[in-house]
Amino acid sequence: MVTAPSQEALAKLTPVLTKRWLSPDAWRLDVYERLDGYRALRKALSVHPDDLIQLVKDSGLRGRGGAGFPTGMKWGFIPQNDGKPHYLVVNADEGEPGTCKDLPLMMADPHSLIEGVIIASYAIRCNRAFIYIRGEAVHAARRLRNAVAEAYRAGYLGRNILGSGFDLDIVVHSGAGAYICGEETALLDSLEGFRGQPRLRPPFPATHGLYSCPTVVNNVETIATVPYIVLGGAQWFRSMGTEKSPGPKIYSISGRVNNPGQYECSLGITLRQLIELAGGMQPGHELKFWTPGGSSTPMLTAEHMDAPLDFEGMAGVGTMLGTTAVQVFSQQDDVVYATYRWIKFYHHESCGKCTPCREGNYWMEQILHRILAGKGTHEDLDTLLDACDNLLGRSFCALGDGATSPVTSSIKYFKQDYLDYIEGRKAPTMSPAELVGAH
Ligand SMILES: Cc1cc2nc3c(=O)[nH]c(=O)nc-3n(C[C@H](O)[C@H](O)[C@H](O)COP(=O)(O)O)c2cc1C
Ligand code: SF4
Repeated sequence: MVTAPSQEALAKLTPVLTKRWLSPDAWRLDVYERLDGYRALRKALSVHPDDLIQLVKDSGLRGRGGAGFPTGMKWGFIPQNDGKPHYLVVNADEGEPGTCKDLPLMMADPHSLIEGVIIASYAIRCNRAFIYIRGEAVHAARRLRNAVAEAYRAGYLGRNILGSGFDLDIVVHSGAGAYICGEETALLDSLEGFRGQPRLRPPFPATHGLYSCPTVVNNVETIATVPYIVLGGAQWFRSMGTEKSPGPKIYSISGRVNNPGQYECSLGITLRQLIELAGGMQPGHELKFWTPGGSSTPMLTAEHMDAPLDFEGMAGVGTMLGTTAVQVFSQQDDVVYATYRWIKFYHHESCGKCTPCREGNYWMEQILHRILAGKGTHEDLDTLLDACDNLLGRSFCALGDGATSPVTSSIKYFKQDYLDYIEGRKAPTMSPAELVGAH
C-alpha cells in the first residue's frame, strides 16, 4: 500500500533543478526559454568573471559528483593570465551503481546543463568545454547534441555570445562505458584518446588537466545548479539544506520502495522522510540495509534512518553522502549476495593499474563466491578484512577504496549472515550457473 508522506517530509521537497522535468517538451529550446531559461546567462555575462566565482564560493555549493569538494574554490584554483587555454569538463559518466540523477536531468532539461556550462566557462575563462557522457547513454547523448545544436543556432554558443565578446564551443564526447572513466583524471586520459587510467597527482587538473592545461572537472548536477545560483543569489541557495551542506540535491532512491525515482530535497533530509516521499516500503518488506550514495559508500541499517543525508550527517555515522544514490534493501534481500555482486562489479571495472585493487578485488570476489556456495570458512572473513586493509588507502585511486565499503560495512553490521552460510544454517542461494567454479 502506498502511504501518504508526512508534512515534515513534504516540506523537504525543493524542486529547483527538477522543476521543469514534468513540463511537456522541456528539453526544447523554446520551452526552456519560456520557463526562465537562459535568463541567468544574460545576467552572468553582465558581471565580471571573478564576481561569479565569488558568488559560487559564497553559495557554499559543493560538488555533486560524490566527494563534495567546494565548487567555487575549485574554480578559484584555475590560474589566470597564464597564456594557456583553460578547459571545463563536465563529468556525465554516471557509473556509480545505483546512481540515476544526471541522465534523467540531461534527458528532461539538457539546456539547464548547457546554460551552466556557458556560465562556468565564462567564469574560469574557458573557450572550449567538453561533456563526457557514458557510452551506453546513447539516448541522452543524442538529446544533448540536439540541444547543443539548438544553442548554437540561437547564439548562446559560438562566437561573441549574446554580443558579449565571449566565445565558447561545447564538444559532447561519448565514452566507452567504463566506470573508471568517471574518475576525473582517467576521464581526462580517455578524452585525450588514451586508455582511461587515473593519473598520478600532483599535479592536479587545476594546473595540468586536459592537454596539460588548467582544467575544471565538475559533475552534471553541480554545473546545472549554477544558473539557479546566479538568478537566486547565494543567500537564497543557503536557505535550503544545512550550513555546511547548503542547497537542494537530487536523491535517486531505488529498491524496495513503492515509488522509486528522483526526489529533489534540501540536503539533510533523512532516509525515513525520503522513504515516505517514495510511498513507503513495498508491502511485506522491512528495511534491512541501505546505501546513502552508491555502492562505494558504506551501507547502513534501520538504526540510521534518522541521520541527516548530508555530507556531515553521513560522516557522523561512518559513511559518506556519495552520489545520493539511496538503494533500499529489505529482509528479503541477501546482504552477502549483494556484497558479492558489488565486488564482482569492482573486479570487472578495476583498471588494473595498481596491485592492491587488481588482485584484491579478484580475491574478494573468489572468497565471497565460495562463502555463497556453502564452502566458506571462518578464516575467510579475516581474509576479506585483510584484503580490505590492503586496499583502503593503498590503492592508486578511489575505486579501490570504494570497493572495500560493501565488504567492511556488511561484515560490521551483518556478520551473522556470513556465519549462517559458513556454519551451514543457510543453503547456497546462487543459481546453478553462478555456482560453477566455486572452490
Ligand atoms: C571510480 C570513480 C568513478 C567516478 N565516477 C564519477 C561519475 O560518474 N560522475 C562524477 O561526476 N564523478 C565521478 N567520480 C568523481 C570524480 O572523480 C570527480 O570527483 C567529480 O567529477 C568532481 O565533480 P564535482 O566536484 O562537481 O563533484 C568518480 C570517482 C571515482 C574514483
Ligand atoms: S585503484 Fe583500481 S581502478 Fe584505481 S588505479 Fe588502482 S587498479 Fe585502477
